[in-house]
Amino acid sequence: MGLSARMALRTSLLLSGSSRVASSHLSAPPLSRQISMEAQSVATQLSKSGLLRTQGLVGGKWTEAYDGKTIKVNNPATGDVIANVPCMGGRETNDAISSAYEAFNSWSKITATERSKCLRKWYDLLIAHKEELGQLITLEQGKPLKEALGEVSYAAGFIEFFAEEAKRVYGDIIPSTLVDRRLFVLKQPVGVVGAITPWNFPLAMITRKVGPALACGCTVVIKPSELTPLTALAAAELSIEAGIPAGVVNVVMGNAPEIGDALLASPQVRKITFTGSTAVGKKLMAGAAGTVKRVSLELGGNAPCIVFDDADVDVAVKGALAAKFRNSGQTCVCANRLIVQEGIYEKFANAFSKAVQNLQVGEGFGEGVVQGPLINEAAVQKVESLLQDALSKGAKVLLGGKRHSLGATFYEPTVIGDVNNEMLISREEVFGPVAPLLRFKEEEEAIRIANDTNAGLAAYIFTTNMQRSWRVSEALEYGLVGVNEGLISTEVAPFGGVKQSGLGREGSKYGLDEYLELKYVCMGNMSNS
Ligand code: SIN
Repeated sequence: MGLSARMALRTSLLLSGSSRVASSHLSAPPLSRQISMEAQSVATQLSKSGLLRTQGLVGGKWTEAYDGKTIKVNNPATGDVIANVPCMGGRETNDAISSAYEAFNSWSKITATERSKCLRKWYDLLIAHKEELGQLITLEQGKPLKEALGEVSYAAGFIEFFAEEAKRVYGDIIPSTLVDRRLFVLKQPVGVVGAITPWNFPLAMITRKVGPALACGCTVVIKPSELTPLTALAAAELSIEAGIPAGVVNVVMGNAPEIGDALLASPQVRKITFTGSTAVGKKLMAGAAGTVKRVSLELGGNAPCIVFDDADVDVAVKGALAAKFRNSGQTCVCANRLIVQEGIYEKFANAFSKAVQNLQVGEGFGEGVVQGPLINEAAVQKVESLLQDALSKGAKVLLGGKRHSLGATFYEPTVIGDVNNEMLISREEVFGPVAPLLRFKEEEEAIRIANDTNAGLAAYIFTTNMQRSWRVSEALEYGLVGVNEGLISTEVAPFGGVKQSGLGREGSKYGLDEYLELKYVCMGNMSNS
């Protein structure tokens, strides 16, 4: 569908300009109003471009909830309503599953080259619309525009990578144990996939799942977060323009428990892939048992960031800053505990606090802003209660430590010292801009503290000692380790956790395996002449 057709199909955009997230934080109306104006003009432009879709996608048709119910999508920087989207449930999900099931018949049978071409076209369109998609992410998720544009590139990278990998799904020939037999292993798509995605990366967490699924010949029902459905819908619109056939990509959103239950109950859905909290992941894993579905789970983390005495302080500060404050601390791989050796502790704490003080907080469209709002009031309250617990047990605020004067869901970038591993802030995922510093003496102690958690997603170490970097990387019970580097996610490397951080890997050549079944074929009586 071209631009003009998309414009003709433009749906209603609601800009109330009045509702607020936190009524107790209305003390800065002039600035909020200014923010609102900026966001409003972006929303109007998006509406004109036709990428602001506000209906679900079921079997290639833009669809309202069958009972007409809607939910509001808010701008987290202001609380303003950006749009209304359908509040879908079990019935719409079952129809989406049926469409995906039907589409699987043909999509899985066309050649890998044809699927690859569609994915490549989708990638080209994502890049061509990078600016609008970035704006949409900032509008509904709040992250600074520069970071949002980075997410679009990251997200598109998964589609490009898997467009290429689609052509490399090789099977095997196994040397036979009997002369008259030939043994093969075929790799075949698992079938319909339910992809449940979070609000912190509204685009990248979709493409990281849908890219490999489509490459292998699977079809998908996506359930984006109700907090950030607009980016998912824009991506789906571009998938249609890329020529991906109706029913291959479906999007439903609204009543999360009903949608989840429908995906779990359906025998036609053969796989659930989920990024989100450990608590929900466990429920999905249990629910998938009823129909023995495959699951990939990318769940919560509790990343240690270990700074050794022999670290280059500048490298460690830069890396820890990136690992902690990306997306205002709202990523599963964010450094949750900065575990610093006693000889470098003071130096690091001072340099790190100075760097954190320079982080500019504001609405994502603001010039120079690197820290946006938190996603909602509940997120701020969680940060406040973890901080309160730590302070009551002896931690000290080195910087920040309260809501930002901008009000709403803005929180000051914060550093606290004298933290220990028993405090709640070290046990739970902070998911906010608070960096807790813990002190250690010996390498073994750092490893013990780092591994003393049920989580096992990402870990970071800063050292200039090569032997130590290997030794500690091997000892850490984590799926990803950054050595002298705080930003390590890329589409070409496997992403995923151990322990209660999840199952399976996303991205890289290994990401394909999650969407493939192995079939062993034995051909007998092959030596008859
Ligand atoms: C996440 O927070 O779940 C994903 C982070 C990443 O892809 O780097």
